[in-house]
Amino acid sequence: MVLQNKNIVLGISGGIAAYKCAHLVRLFVKAGAHVKVVMTPSAKEFVTPGTLSVLSKNEVLIDFFDIRSNWNNHVQLAEWADLILIAPATANTMAKMAQGICDNLLCAVYLSARSKVYFAPAMDLDMYQHPSTKSNLETLKNNGNIIIPAESGELASGLSGEGRMAEPENIIKFIESDLLSALPLAGKQFLVNAGPTYEAIDPVRFIGNRSSGKTGIAIADELASQGAAVTLVLGPSAYSPKNKNVNLVRVESAQQMYEACTKVYDQCDVAILTAAVADYKPSTASDIKIKKKENEMSLELTKTNDILAELGRKKKKQILVGFALETNDTLDYASKKMVAKNLDMVVANTTSEKNPAFGADFNTVTIIDKHNNLVNFEFKSKQEIAVDVINHIKAHFLNIK
Ligand code: CTP
Repeated sequence: MVLQNKNIVLGISGGIAAYKCAHLVRLFVKAGAHVKVVMTPSAKEFVTPGTLSVLSKNEVLIDFFDIRSNWNNHVQLAEWADLILIAPATANTMAKMAQGICDNLLCAVYLSARSKVYFAPAMDLDMYQHPSTKSNLETLKNNGNIIIPAESGELASGLSGEGRMAEPENIIKFIESDLLSALPLAGKQFLVNAGPTYEAIDPVRFIGNRSSGKTGIAIADELASQGAAVTLVLGPSAYSPKNKNVNLVRVESAQQMYEACTKVYDQCDVAILTAAVADYKPSTASDIKIKKKENEMSLELTKTNDILAELGRKKKKQILVGFALETNDTLDYASKKMVAKNLDMVVANTTSEKNPAFGADFNTVTIIDKHNNLVNFEFKSKQEIAVDVINHIKAHFLNIK
């Protein structure tokens, strides 16, 4: 997800590992990135520009001038890039880049870089261990570049040892986790719950509500895109988070939601409870389908655990955020819930015919917090509300801009 829409210049230098670049380009494209390939002239001997052009859906650049004598603008290319990856980075190309030599297009792109530059070295084991290579790697690191360590294994020379280019999957993982670690919420653990709960009456019937879970899902997606580690405990909703980094725990009943939330609560920095948890459940659920008999039938109900109130009681360092859905006296009820459940912040919203809140894609909310802040937001999409809620938490509780 972190590579979605990223512009990547893949610089390929001339080593046998270049054949793996076809796969690498496919993985980048699959992750939603835009890829432009720049090759050194000798790299063409190991993988064809045609293959890389088809896979990247872009022209592959090799020389300063193309066959029509048009100049390939290395400055524009470097400006376009959100990141540059040199893979395989041969001993020769790394030596040139460490020294600032600029005798091919790829070297010129590197020297014009304004983005992060990653190197995935690949060479024979003795070359990798050579003091010159080591000192070039050190220089590249000191100049702010990021080295993706070579892996150990069989080498094209027949020798075995350290020097193989990291496997394409590992290169992608490395870059993704490096990009994630630079995001504003990196290192923060969040718990979010969302959706309705279903309380069984018998194997085919339940007590539920109309919550879609969309707000909580949008919050979880946004948190993950800002680098947070997120567990989303989701009731029976028709929707799912889009961000694959969200740790999704599917539950059905209030009791299951309670157990899943308490399991991760101790480790988390912030818990945002958006779920429309059933307040009551049938005192007993029948194992078999209940047959209709009398004209009237009554169900005995028992209160469920109030998950938010329970987390409020267990609170240590956590920042605890609740939602309050009301039909009337919204702010009054919401502030009382904040105090009663020991919350740091509450997001209040009103359900009415005009603004159904449940199931809709848009809503109007007000944020109230324990520092006496009260912020009214206009009618907007649940994705935008997610950003507002997260911004408020960052600014007022995490000291993050
Ligand atoms: N909540 C919860 N567990 C429950 C009921 C509610 O964790 N059993 C949480 C909701 O996720 C929400 C907050 O408490 O964050 C407020 O929920 P709401 O339904 O507005 O209020 P209730 O506390 O249930 O009170 P009431 O139904 O009387 O308004």
